[in-house]
Amino acid sequence: MDANLPAGPAPIAATALATITVTFVSNGGKTVSAPPDSNLLRVSLREKGGIPFKCGGGICGTCRCHIDVGIDNTDAVKDKERKHLSEADLAAGYRMACQTFLRGDVSVSWQPRPSTTSKAAPTSADPSMTNASTTPASANPDQAFSALSPADRARMLALGPVWARDIGGNRDQVLKAYMPILAATPREGLTVARDLAYGNHARQRLDVYSRTGLKDAPVVVFIHGGAFVRGDKDSNPEVYANFLRYFSRHGIVGVNVEYRLAPESVYPGGAEDVGAAVAWVRANIAAHGGDPSRIVLIGHSAGGSHAGAYACDPAVVPRAGHGLAGLVLISSRLRVDVLPGNPNAGAVRIYYGENEAHYEERSVVTHAARLDIPVFLAAAEFENPYLDAYTAEFAARVAMARGKMPRFLHLRGHNHASIVAHFDSGEEMLGRELVEFVRNPR
Ligand code: FES
Repeated sequence: MDANLPAGPAPIAATALATITVTFVSNGGKTVSAPPDSNLLRVSLREKGGIPFKCGGGICGTCRCHIDVGIDNTDAVKDKERKHLSEADLAAGYRMACQTFLRGDVSVSWQPRPSTTSKAAPTSADPSMTNASTTPASANPDQAFSALSPADRARMLALGPVWARDIGGNRDQVLKAYMPILAATPREGLTVARDLAYGNHARQRLDVYSRTGLKDAPVVVFIHGGAFVRGDKDSNPEVYANFLRYFSRHGIVGVNVEYRLAPESVYPGGAEDVGAAVAWVRANIAAHGGDPSRIVLIGHSAGGSHAGAYACDPAVVPRAGHGLAGLVLISSRLRVDVLPGNPNAGAVRIYYGENEAHYEERSVVTHAARLDIPVFLAAAEFENPYLDAYTAEFAARVAMARGKMPRFLHLRGHNHASIVAHFDSGEEMLGRELVEFVRNPR
């Protein structure tokens, strides 16, 4: 295997470093030292870093990885890498580990290889080949609720089919189950700046999650849910911090936004707060390691309604443009409805008004064809009634306008709350897809 690895480049003149530091982000943040000019895959093999590989010679494409921090500390891209990586991939920081030599400190991550079994833990004869990632030892990244204890997992699976009977109570059970798992995740190298004001109202506050050494990194801006009338950026000490922490762990700056609620703030007040938060991010995120030209807006539930409206509702989109690179709508109410089956119909009336004649023009789906940026849609198998249908409707409208289906992930087993609560637990059904999308929106 080692014989296939290319010889290193000529030693770099005047290299002052005695050793460099390599952080294997997808292996729980394992950090090792190596001599300058080391081959990245060779370091991974020697130190059991966990980067997947097969050929070691630039042929198979298995060792594709992302340099989260320190891309300037890697050597020139080889022709063999261009067979596996597009120009957009290279610009986003992807390299082939077996072809990459290191001039300084780097943090590297990679996609866990899909599991081919339903067992809870990945299996491999070679420990360097396991998909440790941020994953607890018992979690299967591809299986819903695999990070939880067997009892909690069984409870979550049983709760899905009856989700809509008691949404509030079921949501509390989900948060309770994930709390201890999320509280135990490592925090080394992660930073958070809390309660920064983007407006004068007490709820116009946001938190910024970053990582030591990040520079010009992509940015996600997260808008929480709560049926327009409730909800906070921190539902509890771990959720939604878990969502942003997951991204910062992968070299992406995360912004967690709180906003004004109805009835104090009615349509389009939520979307206007999103706009104010995005404006703050564009002006200030460079100081936290983010690139203001690479902002992806993510909304969950009612937060998706506000995010979607900000991105494509002509009553809300700023005249100078929304300033976004991409949009992600998770389990969102993209159509204003007060149908009998909608458990939040009363809250919808409070935010969007009693006059149902306005509902069509105030629905995000109505403006789907106007959206001018890449979009990623996600819904859980067990949703609050109609949210999956509205997500599919939005996807269909975008597809008809563009002649191409946008990215759409339907998460088997998950419910309206766990689709977000599972982030940073070791389950990566949605997270790894979003990380790819945020790094290279298309
Ligand atoms: S291990 Fe095959 S391309 Fe790098």
